Amino acid sequence: MDLHNIFIQAHRGFAYLELLLVAVFIVALFVSMMAQAGKISKLLRKSTFFVMIFFHIQLLVGLTMLFFTSSFMSAVNQIGMVGLMSNPESRFSYIEHPFSMLITAILMTIINKKVKTAETISGGIRFLAILALVLFFYAIPFDKLFG
Ligand code: HEM
Repeated sequence: MDLHNIFIQAHRGFAYLELLLVAVFIVALFVSMMAQAGKISKLLRKSTFFVMIFFHIQLLVGLTMLFFTSSFMSAVNQIGMVGLMSNPESRFSYIEHPFSMLITAILMTIINKKVKTAETISGGIRFLAILALVLFFYAIPFDKLFG
């Protein structure tokens, strides 16, 4: 197995775990939002923390693949950025997926900082969480995970 394959398999393995953690995060978020006065539960604090950690791990593995082991750099050299963007498959793999996930990782880091200290769920936390979830579900390649 070559290096890129090892990274892909690790990235896929973490992706299943991340999906599970995000499911727990969604349930904890929903339960906290329904709770009296929107009190932030221990489960929400913990699930937010672990979702964020796994995003950071995925970010490291993903950026390593993008710049060192994948065909992204050679594709840019051969067909240029415009050529890469005009192919829907390579645009998703090398631009939309990494960029959206990077934003999601940043959002989860901000959410984690907020839920660590806040007592109740503010409108800001709710907005950031919904934005992070929309980006995450848009950018995840379900076909490659379950296809
Ligand atoms: C946080 C920043 C992330 C970056 C920079 C990133 C980067 C990448 C890149 C460059 C690829 C394409 C590799 C290739 O086909 O050559 C890829 C594939 C993939 N990524 Fe990410 N990724 C990130 C986060 C995530 C997250 C959070 C998940 C899921 C929870 C995820 C799931 C996947 C899956 C399932 C694939 C396809 C693997 C395959 O081809 O079997 N990624 N990622």
